[in-house]
Amino acid sequence: TGTAITDQFERPLKDLRISVIDQCNFRCTYCMPAEIFGEGYQFLSQEERLSYDEIVRVAEAFASLGVEKIRITGGEPLLRKNLSELIERLYAIEGIHDIALTTNGVFLPKQAEALKAAGLDRINLSLDAIDDEVFKSINSRGVKTSPVLKGVQAAEDAGLQVKVNMVVKKGMNDDQILPMARYFLATGHILRFIEFMDVGNTNGWNMDSVISKREIIDQIHEHMPLEPINPNYYGEVASRYRYQDGEGEVGIISSVTDHFCDTCTRARLSADGKLYHCLFASGGYDIRSLLRDGTSDHGLKLEIMKRWTRRDDRYSADRAEGKTPKDKKIEMSYIGG
Ligand code: GTP
Ligand code: 5AD
Ligand code: SF4
Ligand code: SF4
Repeated sequence: TGTAITDQFERPLKDLRISVIDQCNFRCTYCMPAEIFGEGYQFLSQEERLSYDEIVRVAEAFASLGVEKIRITGGEPLLRKNLSELIERLYAIEGIHDIALTTNGVFLPKQAEALKAAGLDRINLSLDAIDDEVFKSINSRGVKTSPVLKGVQAAEDAGLQVKVNMVVKKGMNDDQILPMARYFLATGHILRFIEFMDVGNTNGWNMDSVISKREIIDQIHEHMPLEPINPNYYGEVASRYRYQDGEGEVGIISSVTDHFCDTCTRARLSADGKLYHCLFASGGYDIRSLLRDGTSDHGLKLEIMKRWTRRDDRYSADRAEGKTPKDKKIEMSYIGG
């Protein structure tokens, strides 16, 4: 329905990832280390955040430019009040075919039904370990796996599609790769392993703590043989593998050792209305000012179009080629992954 636009590398604009809040009830060590995101940390105020009216206006502009898929992220998006109201309004936008949510799952038992009723299609739920002690040491909030597993169940019961995301970091949870694979093979959920990425400035990333796609596959394959299968859609972030002996599949998201910038169709909107063209961007474009200074819908659309047309971001590809920008990058909890 929308006008298709492409960037400097012929990549179409297809997805919009919207962060609705920068706060989270967890303090995962690799994402929001408690020492930095402590008592005194200044999160965005309600006034700074886009309202639902404003988010819907931006989403409409993006839909008119060819965006078909919206993903809601955080921080933890379910901390934003009445999220299902927003979902319902996004669902009503012409051209939006797929609405998904990335969450840590703890609030799903309370919210899954309302989210489904509002039009949510899918949930990607983060769980980095199946062992309680390992999981507690990652989330830094003493939360065991059961509240998250109850979230999986609640989403399932509500009729939502569910996938599970596991960030793998050496020394943190690499001993959980097989136990997690076995657990979610048994429950019939797709588990996706994510290479630890150098997002933000606070998570102490270095190459030594990355467990590569190759290592993850090899580890599983040794016990449960895998074979590659085709992507579900153009530009899918995860590469897919199925178990050779029967049902079930896993995915690997390999931003570090096998990037997918060539097919990156994603724009990102932060909770305070900045537009980013890459997860690793250092600067965003202030959409909120446009919204609040009386710019027309048409004007908004033109600005977004102008920027996407100029887009030349390909951070992971650049890193693989040894080029890394020195600028400060935005934090994961702010941009939503
Ligand atoms: P699906 O629509 O289910 O394929 O979702 P998704 O995998 O695109 O989204 P999700 O929020 O579950 O992200 C899973 C992991 O992929 C997270 O660690 C994201 O940060 C990462 N990711 C998603 N999109 C990109 C991207 O464009 N670049 C990079 N480097 N990582 C991404
Ligand atoms: N590297 C890879 N994935 C990360 N996530 C958060 N921080 C990182 C990182 N440094 C993941 C979360 C969630 C998704 C949105 O991004 O665990 O699954
Ligand atoms: Fe919260 Fe997800 Fe970051 Fe953990 S990884 S602190 S659950 S936003
Ligand atoms: Fe897209 Fe940037 Fe991720 Fe590459 S690193 S896939 S350009 S968001």
